[in-house]
Amino acid sequence: MKSNKQNRRKFLTAFSATTAGGLLMNTISPYAALAQPDSFLPEKETGSEYLFEPGLVYLNTGTLGPCRRETIEASKKVWEELESLPLKYYGKWGAESLAEKTRITAARFLGCDVTEMMITNSTTNGMNAIAQGLRLKPGDRILTTDQEHGGGILCWKYFEKYYGVVVDSIIIPPGENNAAAILNRINDSIRKETRLISISHIFSSTGLRVPVPEISALARSKGILCIVDGAQAAGAIKVNVKELGCHAYATSGHKWLMGPKGTGLLYLSKEVHDIIRPIQFEESYNTYVDSNGVVNSAGILGLGKAIEYIESVGITKIEEHNLSLRNRLYERLSGMNKVTIVSPAAGPLASPLLACLVPGTIERTSFVRMLLDKYKLSIRPTHKQWFNGIRFSCHIFNTEKEVDFAAGIIHKELPG
Ligand SMILES: Cc1ncc(COP(=O)(O)O)c(C=O)c1O
Repeated sequence: MKSNKQNRRKFLTAFSATTAGGLLMNTISPYAALAQPDSFLPEKETGSEYLFEPGLVYLNTGTLGPCRRETIEASKKVWEELESLPLKYYGKWGAESLAEKTRITAARFLGCDVTEMMITNSTTNGMNAIAQGLRLKPGDRILTTDQEHGGGILCWKYFEKYYGVVVDSIIIPPGENNAAAILNRINDSIRKETRLISISHIFSSTGLRVPVPEISALARSKGILCIVDGAQAAGAIKVNVKELGCHAYATSGHKWLMGPKGTGLLYLSKEVHDIIRPIQFEESYNTYVDSNGVVNSAGILGLGKAIEYIESVGITKIEEHNLSLRNRLYERLSGMNKVTIVSPAAGPLASPLLACLVPGTIERTSFVRMLLDKYKLSIRPTHKQWFNGIRFSCHIFNTEKEVDFAAGIIHKELPG
């Protein structure tokens, strides 16, 4: 197996002609002509850094990211040790220090102090912890948007249903490309009972990169909290929670950070430690203490390893790569009248997620299933409540050829 350094040094060459991508590229001349060699990122091949099945074109990190081989090996080693002597890492005998190492890495990566960082199982888990820890009262209002993912909104809906809290949502229409308009709508919807703004950093639906620094500043100017669902951001783009200025930030380990499934991170700014008090972390923010139960040490250790990898490549470089692929895909798809792109054009609101509407005659879930079965192309149908569409995620391991391949397939398979 090649070392990371060797892999990183190695420039990508053309996709093998034996892959689905290679075969299709030969049949779609407009896209083939635009194919360029890829950049600094590791070559994807069987036996290499990722375990992708041969020929798979995975543009679906926004749903779940892949673990790199090195991450799996690190987790596996600890897991096997744990099974050879189940209490080996128990409590003060070691698991605490293993988990704490990941906490330190995560805090460094997201730009906060380790005392502001907690390990969770998912973004949803983190958002639930925030909502539960707020001790909301009947009549309190939460301001959010109509583009939130279930994992970022259920917590507020729960308090609305059982505790008389009111959830107000501003509308962000698909195709929105105006940060000032979003800010104005938020500003106009803040009432005296509003306790916080809860918003995604990147919308799962359209991939719009929300202007969080401005929203945090607005929240602060009104004396309310800004809570961010960062499921689609950490690992995809640079995230520095202090620069964002939010009070809390929940994210997933198993998407763009490429950590083990069932891992997540929660940032709570020091300023809110007395205001947001999740039961889970009441006694301690440490990962493994008597009061918060046994944790998934192997997974948490793997998450630390995965973040270290992202750091070693450099998140700025990764963001640039992801955006350049996404912008390329944007260009390819915007040349087709079969789809309507609902993600922002290249610029400050763009993210590595790109979504488009498909014709009403297309049932998006079976369409996406067909793409996987027929072409080994993995993308995501958007959630029904948003629009009849499909979503692409461009990450570190993806290549220009894959993006061109995906655009070519969409062109071929959609009617019209
Ligand atoms: C914006 C957003 N929030 C929350 C989630 C849920 O993430 P998790 O499964 O880590 O709870 C997702 C998953 O796609 C998401 O896109």
